[in-house]
Amino acid sequence: MGNRTFTMIKPDAVANGHIGAILEKINGAGFRIVALKMTRLSTEKAGEFYAVHKERPFYGELVEFMSSGHIVAAILEKDNAVEDFRKLIGATNPANADAGTIRKLFAESLGRNAIHGSDSDENAAIEGSFFFSGLEQF
Ligand code: PPS
Repeated sequence: MGNRTFTMIKPDAVANGHIGAILEKINGAGFRIVALKMTRLSTEKAGEFYAVHKERPFYGELVEFMSSGHIVAAILEKDNAVEDFRKLIGATNPANADAGTIRKLFAESLGRNAIHGSDSDENAAIEGSFFFSGLEQF
């Protein structure tokens, strides 16, 4: 068993019809999908998920955007999952993302950047458990 990361396909990429293409990139890069669901965050739940950023100037915009439409949440498994997934998705701002990364291919802008990836093993576990019960995390 490898280690794990957590991802969300964000409302822009869902609305733009990119769920299938993004899941193909994730599988093609060697990640196993452990758990997967399409859902929608209330503003309260989005605020809770991003609470660590609540003092940042973009917090309100981020919460509003993340609750504006459906998202796809998933737990992914692979050796070196957190770091390798951050490489696969590319820089936060798609203008700075490398060619071939998910954000370069599918993101609209810094605020509407297609996909989230956990930034540490600890946060991956916290974020995965935000969406999935223990029984769903096989
Ligand atoms: S990190 O990893 O914490 O350093 O990333 P960071 O660049 O600080 O961004 C944290 C999350 O906030 C989103 N973000 C923004 N949203 C809207 N507007 C602006 N200007 C903006 N800047 C950053 C960014 O996409 C990160 O969201 P997640 O879901 O974690 O990728």
